[in-house]
Amino acid sequence: MSDINLNFNSCFIDNKEIDIIKEKIKRIHNKIHSKEEYDAMPLGWLDIPIKTDINELNAITNAAKRLRSMSDVIISLGIGGSYLGSKAAIEMLGYEDDKVIFAGNNISGQYLKGILDYIESKDFSIIVISKSGTTLETALAFRILKDVLIKRYGKEKTSERIIAVTDKSKGVLKTIADEEGYECFVIPDNIGGRYSVFTPAGLLTIAAAGVDIYEMIDGAKEACYLYGNESIDANPAYMYAAIRNMLYKTGKSVEVLVNYEPSMLYFAEWWKQLFGESEGKEGKGIFPGSMLFTADLHSMGQFLQEGTKNVFETVLNFKSGSDDILIPYDAKNIDELNYLHGKSLNYINDIAYRGVKEAHESGGVPVITIDIPGRNPYYFGCLTYFFQKACAISGYIIDVNPFNQPGVEMYKKNIF
Ligand code: PA5
Repeated sequence: MSDINLNFNSCFIDNKEIDIIKEKIKRIHNKIHSKEEYDAMPLGWLDIPIKTDINELNAITNAAKRLRSMSDVIISLGIGGSYLGSKAAIEMLGYEDDKVIFAGNNISGQYLKGILDYIESKDFSIIVISKSGTTLETALAFRILKDVLIKRYGKEKTSERIIAVTDKSKGVLKTIADEEGYECFVIPDNIGGRYSVFTPAGLLTIAAAGVDIYEMIDGAKEACYLYGNESIDANPAYMYAAIRNMLYKTGKSVEVLVNYEPSMLYFAEWWKQLFGESEGKEGKGIFPGSMLFTADLHSMGQFLQEGTKNVFETVLNFKSGSDDILIPYDAKNIDELNYLHGKSLNYINDIAYRGVKEAHESGGVPVITIDIPGRNPYYFGCLTYFFQKACAISGYIIDVNPFNQPGVEMYKKNIF
């Protein structure tokens, strides 16, 4: 398989800076790959794709199959790191349909009422995901939906229709699961929410949607080796971390993740959580935003081209789109589009990417491009790990702890 590539116009950075940051990254690499740091910090995500064996993947797949066979609809309950990774994967890979739906990620009565109406005459089951086991949004939705299950199927049968993914021993969800006899999967202690997509927190829902999680873990495993190289010249994840921080130093404090594929909308949401929660602390960090081109070019394109010059873009550029459509010939040609006859939409999307990149760079907006060979479970695994590794390195570059989230904990405590 070919690798993920990084492209960047070096005129936006100072060459002297790169040598300084190279050395810093080497030191950070050695630190996070040392046993002391691994034991002291939640770094379990670093090697989870390598540690996940076939038996675990089989157990997750079998549990997902069991729920699928008894349900018209599987409702996955979770928020933040217990939601966005699986949502991102399912959408990116084109598995979004009405079989797996999501709740527990808001407190909207209208939203949950819509789900209750939708499942009214359908067999359904629940995957409830919460590492802490106490998150209010998820706990509320769980209580309401469990009540519906009990009224519909009785207490005993309800337990067969719920799978809990949580801590191995602590938290309210674990207590309920043990008391009521749910099948359980564990989120390891040393992996935080936003780094947990390759644990059952992400994998169970992804498998329930029918995605090949074996292929996904293969991609993530390969990424462990590829992005485990200490030299930034041989490691695009480290180079990405370096470039974005060099840009940050020059006043580019906003990074916009740009996609040209609507199916990447939730990948961008996952990415925003990863970087926002990891870096935004102690008055520091690049603000992570996202845009969907070409739609957002008709709204935010103006700002990017001519607005405040504190923005840089990171574009996810997929090399091959499997689904494509050719532009038909029209004898009348009133829309004057016959010059595109025979060309494909993906080809035109690519031309749009090149044109926009040139325009934005000429307007002083640096553009980092990440070329991804394909949109499949393997490259979801690769790309996700790429960003996790880059994000951890990036947090250490600005001297914050990329694995805690004191601001989120403060919100949770207050709302509770
Ligand atoms: O990254 C994080 O830690 C958070 O965003 C959590 O994932 C989110 O708050 C959900 O927490 P929990 O899985 O404990 O319900």
